[in-house]
Amino acid sequence: MSNVFIFDHPLMQHKVTLLRDKDTVQKEFRELVEELSMLMAYEVTRDLPLKEVDIVTPIGPTRQKKLAEQKIALVPILRAGLGMVSGMQSIIPQARVGHIGLYRDHETMEPVEYYCKLPDDIAESEVILLDPMLATGGSGVAAINFLKARGAKKIKWVCIIASEEGVRVLHDAHPDVAIFCAAVDPILNEDCYIVPGLGDAGDRLFGTK
Ligand code: PRP
Ligand code: URA
Repeated sequence: MSNVFIFDHPLMQHKVTLLRDKDTVQKEFRELVEELSMLMAYEVTRDLPLKEVDIVTPIGPTRQKKLAEQKIALVPILRAGLGMVSGMQSIIPQARVGHIGLYRDHETMEPVEYYCKLPDDIAESEVILLDPMLATGGSGVAAINFLKARGAKKIKWVCIIASEEGVRVLHDAHPDVAIFCAAVDPILNEDCYIVPGLGDAGDRLFGTK
């Protein structure tokens, strides 16, 4: 599948294993999500445009490269995507942050939107959509639909664990959106949780269960 990037860096694989472990406590879980997001930011921003600038070092003048004026928006899907913001921001401090609130209705498994606040210049921004989990793909497809309806044109999806089904569903619905993830798991259980996955990312991040 084109446009799908699965990270295989040993540090990421190690951290994802720690994240999956049911004995990993809330503080450690939150720190791991932050660290993984920081590591992912490095690859996700690989194609950012550069411009040439003239500067002077203590030794003399030189022409070097700096990031061009590409606007970047980080958009976490509430709640669990919030855990990925600070790690990304530490590498991309100039990024603006928008929020989309979605939850999966536990009866129908359909995504329900309850909040959306995006930067004014979302149409001109490269949007990095953040959610640690891509399960059925319903929330991801809905979030990208909302973003496109509000003018976003260049969108990247960044998650930590995806299911094979979620990757397929997201890619089929939005083939223009590059998908980045640290692991792809084979199946979903009857409650649409990723197997083996890591459980409920929001609950583990915020200690709500
Ligand atoms: C989780 C997760 C994703 C969604 C993935 O959120 O953070 O947003 O499920 O599932 P899907 O691919 O099947 O749509 P959840 O709905 O549990 O909300 P929460 O973050 O508030 O816990
Ligand atoms: N949301 C989660 O937090 N975990 C899953 O496995 C699926 C959806």
